[in-house]
Amino acid sequence: MFNKNHQAADEPQLDMSRIPAHVAIIMDGNGRWAQARHLPRVAGHKQGMQTVKKVTIAASDMGVKVLSLYAFSTENWKRPESEVSYLMDLPIRFFNTFVPDLVKHNVKVTVMGDITRLPEKTQTAVNDAMADTKDCDGMILNFALNYGARDEIKRAVQTIAQQAAAGELDPASITEDTISGHLMSAQLGEFADPDLLIRTSGEERISNFMLWQIAYSELLFVPEHWPDFDGETLKRCLIDFQGRHRRFGGLVNK
Ligand code: IPE
Ligand code: IPE
Ligand code: MG
Repeated sequence: MFNKNHQAADEPQLDMSRIPAHVAIIMDGNGRWAQARHLPRVAGHKQGMQTVKKVTIAASDMGVKVLSLYAFSTENWKRPESEVSYLMDLPIRFFNTFVPDLVKHNVKVTVMGDITRLPEKTQTAVNDAMADTKDCDGMILNFALNYGARDEIKRAVQTIAQQAAAGELDPASITEDTISGHLMSAQLGEFADPDLLIRTSGEERISNFMLWQIAYSELLFVPEHWPDFDGETLKRCLIDFQGRHRRFGGLVNK
């Protein structure tokens, strides 16, 4: 039996009342996608940018509250200068063509990572996108740009230690919330911790992404390279998430 979407009638459907609030994605496999097509690696990044547009709209339409996308890690500076420079231009191209759609879909842009190390034109594009979408109160599109979780934790520790050294903070009063509150994800408020973390391209590692925040995230590794990912793939990921039993260390009522 098939319904009009050619989906088996007994296949699980997406439950719109149980959409994960925060979905984070390690967008991986752009280079391999391109190499498989005998194209230069940057062609994969270009196609990957189109995927970001599609997936942003799909996630917003499905009711996701925060979509975090790992776009450039603190370790990605190790790549050849020509590839780094292409990656630094991508946010400019992305926001130049996509901010009107973001506003139309009521999507607000935020960033995690030290953007002061990015080229000035990239910083301007990112800052303009955040300013242009600051009043949008739909989904938050949270880019990790020059982001590394260890760098993020190191900075939080520095700030907290400075407050303690200045006598403004009693070390005994430091709680988990004190630490969460100093991470770059603090701006996401109650949605700071991803409910679902997806990594594309079949690699099964975290590569320094949101180490503190994913303590109880559901992890999902999918074989598709990022340029092949789309709204349908995202939907299948959310259906997979909805089939899981999150226990947070307790017991699940079944
Ligand atoms: C992900 O694709 C994009 C970034 C890390 C910037 P990759 O560039 O890592 O692609 P692969 O993993 O080499 O195929
Ligand atoms: C992780 O992908 C970083 C981003 C997706 C931005 P990488 O391709 O850089 O990670 P490794 O090197 O395979 O761990
Ligand atoms: Mg990779």
